[in-house]
Amino acid sequence: MPSKPVYIAQISDLHIKSPGSLAYGRVDTAGALERCVAALNEFRPKPDLVVISGDLADTPTREEYEHLKRLLAPLELPFVSVPGNHDSRELMRAAFPQAYAFPSGPLNQSVEVGGLDLVLLDSSVAGKPHGDLDTATLHWLDATLASSPSRPALLFLHHPPFVTGIWHMDRQNLLDASELAPIVRRHPRVRLIATGHVHRATLTMFAGVPTTICPAPNHAVDLDLERVREPSFKIEPPAFHLHSWFPGDGFGSVVTHQVPIGNFDGPHPFFGPDGKLL
Ligand SMILES: [Fe+2]
Repeated sequence: MPSKPVYIAQISDLHIKSPGSLAYGRVDTAGALERCVAALNEFRPKPDLVVISGDLADTPTREEYEHLKRLLAPLELPFVSVPGNHDSRELMRAAFPQAYAFPSGPLNQSVEVGGLDLVLLDSSVAGKPHGDLDTATLHWLDATLASSPSRPALLFLHHPPFVTGIWHMDRQNLLDASELAPIVRRHPRVRLIATGHVHRATLTMFAGVPTTICPAPNHAVDLDLERVREPSFKIEPPAFHLHSWFPGDGFGSVVTHQVPIGNFDGPHPFFGPDGKLL
């Protein structure tokens, strides 16, 4: 069992377009990513790894991935990525050669960081907005989780395996979540399922495991729980997630912090030199 904390930063839904293009004619996703990269570089403790949980590109094209590579070049941290519905497996595999489990098809991978296993699952379906884990991916997940049962594991995938209440996103979530659940339940070492796709911070339980959605560095999906508007987005405070793993009994503990991106007043001390509250 490792003795040091492990810090995993998660960023999601970058939606990088070709240079000079705005997403939906309005959102400068490249500028948003530049600010996100600056925030990641400045953060202390330095994260051990960054996971990008899908929708790296927007339409997608080779030019968008080239633009993304240039935008990520200043990032001083190692990163891994998993596709979302706006990505192309083939273009991503070419742009970001990583230790993928399969030589073709889904871009699944398992990465060990300081005694913690990160299992990245490709839930993308070519040309469709919804998510699905194919049979090969589900078998690979089960076998991967069985291979080192004493290590804690975090799962990352783009599509949430649960309903958020946002109608137009719920019809394009992970449609075969019922196939994922029994695998998660079989392997108690899964301590967190971390997803994206909805561009807003969300938390629930799935198959007995805390399950999150990571906010985006750019726009947020409108929190319309009453179906009163057409599918819409809002420019809300950008953020990333920091999943901190602390050693302890059993599989230790995972704590997720939401980190706002931007320049904010502070930090200011609570106490003066005399130890009294200011
Ligand atoms: Fe998405």
